[in-house]
Amino acid sequence: MNIVGARPNMVKMAPLMRAMKQIPELDPVLVHTGQHYDYLMSQVFFEQLGMPAPNYNLEVGSGSQHDQTAETIKRFGEVVQKDRPDMVVVVGDVNSTIACSLVAAKERISLAHVEAGLRSGDRTMPEEINRLLTDSISDLLFTTEESGNANLRREGVPAKKVFFVGNIMIDSLVQSIKTARESELAAKLALQRRGYGVLTLHRPANVDDVDKLRAVLSAVSEIARELPVLFPVHPRTQARIAAAGIEDMQSWDGKHTIQGKGIWMMGPASYLDFLGIVDGAALVITDSGGIQEESTFMGVPCLTFRDNTERPATIEYGTNILVGTDPAALLYHAAEVLRQVKSGRESSHKIPPLWDGHAAERIVGHLHHYLHEHSES
Ligand code: UD1
Repeated sequence: MNIVGARPNMVKMAPLMRAMKQIPELDPVLVHTGQHYDYLMSQVFFEQLGMPAPNYNLEVGSGSQHDQTAETIKRFGEVVQKDRPDMVVVVGDVNSTIACSLVAAKERISLAHVEAGLRSGDRTMPEEINRLLTDSISDLLFTTEESGNANLRREGVPAKKVFFVGNIMIDSLVQSIKTARESELAAKLALQRRGYGVLTLHRPANVDDVDKLRAVLSAVSEIARELPVLFPVHPRTQARIAAAGIEDMQSWDGKHTIQGKGIWMMGPASYLDFLGIVDGAALVITDSGGIQEESTFMGVPCLTFRDNTERPATIEYGTNILVGTDPAALLYHAAEVLRQVKSGRESSHKIPPLWDGHAAERIVGHLHHYLHEHSES
């Protein structure tokens, strides 16, 4: 039984479902918790990633951390008690991940966590709590980078439970990049390659405090004097911008090519549209986890507007720079990156080990073996 809830989960689950379908003994069932529910936050990802419709949609929707988590536990608990799957597979670090993991562990159903071991060290992030708890009750832990293996070792997780399989998000990227380059959005915008930036912001720490949100947007406005910056806005951020009455940005009308510099707001981008615009960008400014990884693979400079990252491989190997949350530092690093881009030098980067588009096959191989062994015992 495979769980998705929020937008990045779909990107991770699609290759897994595909790989599971290749094995006749496996009967994958898909459960959508409904944590994300808007067309642009959910359905469009199913369509573009070729994922089957979920067997169950729990329609949990939005709410406080506690309401959302509690409601997911309650509704998923009913599904598990009815269907008794042999295994529950969760991905990532969202509220749906920990909620469904708790149900599996308490029902004594084997639990596999894909993207295990990542640690920001920052327990003010809801995701960090979700990661720590999910890993501590999982039977199989699939890691994306070496730091994940080291973290789990340090926390005392037995080595036999941990499998270094690479990054499943990159499986989807490899599969989709060609189509993404021809995406409708990139064509409509008709922007010059390496002639624009991309901004995403959605972490509560950056957007829930109006003064912080204003400060970061005002720094990005400075950067946007140099080049247009596309800003696909997450619903949480959209609500905060509206409530704060921040107006010094332009809205793209979705039809015309973008003329001129400045920040251009638009609705949440679909998966292919987003990859398409990142691929051609001069730089990306973000507080997302997955985008640090995608930009590393694509070789696009990424300025991460956070004080920590749970994905250090993107810095060690890739194009990611952890700029912190001081707007002045963001300005400094953006100027450096733009200078390099103008000089025509591509940023030097390597791809982290096993980010090769084949993580799903490796994961499903281990799951199959585990299920086989446990059904015999
Ligand atoms: C969640 C994850 C975060 C992940 C992000 C990806 C947790 C704790 N956080 O954050 O790790 O990076 O998803 O996007 O699980 N909303 C809509 N429509 C939707 C979904 C949400 O309008 O389809 C609005 C609601 O007002 C909601 C708010 O966005 O309250 C936040 O949604 P929520 O799922 O609580 O967290 P995210 O910020 O999306």
